[in-house]
Amino acid sequence: MTSRILFVCLGNICRSPAAEGVFRQMAPEVETDSAGTGHWHVGEPPYTDMQTAARARGVELADLRARQFKPEDFARFDLIIAMDDANLCDIEALRPAGSETPVRLFTDYAPSLGMDHIPDPYYTRDFEGALDLIEAASAGLKANL
Ligand code: 4NP
Repeated sequence: MTSRILFVCLGNICRSPAAEGVFRQMAPEVETDSAGTGHWHVGEPPYTDMQTAARARGVELADLRARQFKPEDFARFDLIIAMDDANLCDIEALRPAGSETPVRLFTDYAPSLGMDHIPDPYYTRDFEGALDLIEAASAGLKANL
């Protein structure tokens, strides 16, 4: 049973907190968290533009705080979801010996979109597009639990 899911991106201020916020609303029975492979924004709330775009869709992110992904997360979660290939490689590099926790790309749960990653709105500035993908992948993930 998949009851604990961790969403991971690079900074943990745009994509993964948005994924956590969308998914926890869609599947409140699942324990969720998010983390970044990078350390730069540890302790910060989600990026203001992402909070604003999410809030307009009825998704509140203000309570979330960034933290860095750590090897212990492999044991704490049943499933780890990466936003892009770089996240996935950085996560796998920290996998403890013997750990079998699956790490999957978020876009794998929305194959009809034809995307292989969630583009980073911190750079693209396309917060709406990122949220569209996150909502579709969240629905696919929930349907796959
Ligand atoms: P995120 O976006 O990985 O979706 O949280 C980023 C936010 C900040 C940085 C990189 C990615 N940064 O390098 O500061």
